Amino acid sequence: MSGQEDTWGSCWVLVTGASRGLGAAICEGVAPLLGEGSRMVGVARTAGGLASTEGLVKKANAKVTFIPVVLDLGVASKAEMEAALKSSFGGEGLPQPSRVLLFHNAGTLGNLKYLKDLVDQQHVQQYFNLNICSVVTLNALLINLVQSLTPSSTIEVINISSLAALQPFKSWGLYCAGKAGRDMLFKVLATEEPNVSVLNYAPGPLDNDMQNAARTETADDELRSMFSSMKNEGKLLSCSTSVSKLIDILKAKKFKSGDHVDFYDE
Ligand SMILES: NC(=O)c1ccc[n+]([C@@H]2O[C@H](COP(=O)([O-])OP(=O)(O)OC[C@H]3O[C@@H](n4cnc5c(N)ncnc54)[C@H](OP(=O)(O)O)[C@@H]3O)[C@@H](O)[C@H]2O)c1
Repeated sequence: MSGQEDTWGSCWVLVTGASRGLGAAICEGVAPLLGEGSRMVGVARTAGGLASTEGLVKKANAKVTFIPVVLDLGVASKAEMEAALKSSFGGEGLPQPSRVLLFHNAGTLGNLKYLKDLVDQQHVQQYFNLNICSVVTLNALLINLVQSLTPSSTIEVINISSLAALQPFKSWGLYCAGKAGRDMLFKVLATEEPNVSVLNYAPGPLDNDMQNAARTETADDELRSMFSSMKNEGKLLSCSTSVSKLIDILKAKKFKSGDHVDFYDE
């Protein structure tokens, strides 16, 4: 394949949770594929983490303009999200991109307790606000913005999912419900918007901060020791390995819009 065929042309890319972990690796992994005039927006709460991701992106492809957006998606209002999107993508005279890719990657584990112990109502509400509600709003705002500013661009939405969207894990009720809910939202989006490509991608177990929390905070003894064994036996994946697989899936386009595809799927 020639270098030309290997690029995605001029793109707008939005990655939530871009300050570290899988989100930073998505930014770094996707950057080399982007053509002249591409803009990549990274959203997270931590300015320092976004600055380090910006460094990775610039090193990977100097043609890409990286825009860090410091925003707490757990509390951000619709107006704040809209303002961030408009200032990143809505400038006068910006060239129209051929593709727009939206990676809904930000996510948290929440309290890893048994459901009978989840009595902190505020925590539960905040959990779903970040992991479900903000995703619905940001998604709708970006699709509307793209359809009004650059209607001929193709839109691709990638929801970072998990095996936990399909399988129940003891003491992971919030996480499992959040991931299952997100998968279903994006399956619905796929049926509503035939011109939008939607992928639910489960990245596999990653060797990063979130897995560290899984090993230490999971209330269920059996599950906690399973996570420790995976680490000790070298079964965790690097974020960049998982991102390479995601990019291969996006390039091959073998999935049906709305599908759940796992790192380990053939
Ligand atoms: N790690 C795994 O083994 C694994 C497995 C399957 C699926 N996943 C999924 O992969 C995705 C990425 O997770 P990860 O493993 O990379 O986790 P991580 O290392 O904990 O990173 C989470 C990212 O989300 C951002 N974030 C958290 N709360 C936020 C908020 N309120 N507002 C804005 N951004 C926020 C964090 O940035 P700030 O802290 O700077 O805000 C960070 O960039 C998640 O959806 C996760 O569920 C992970």
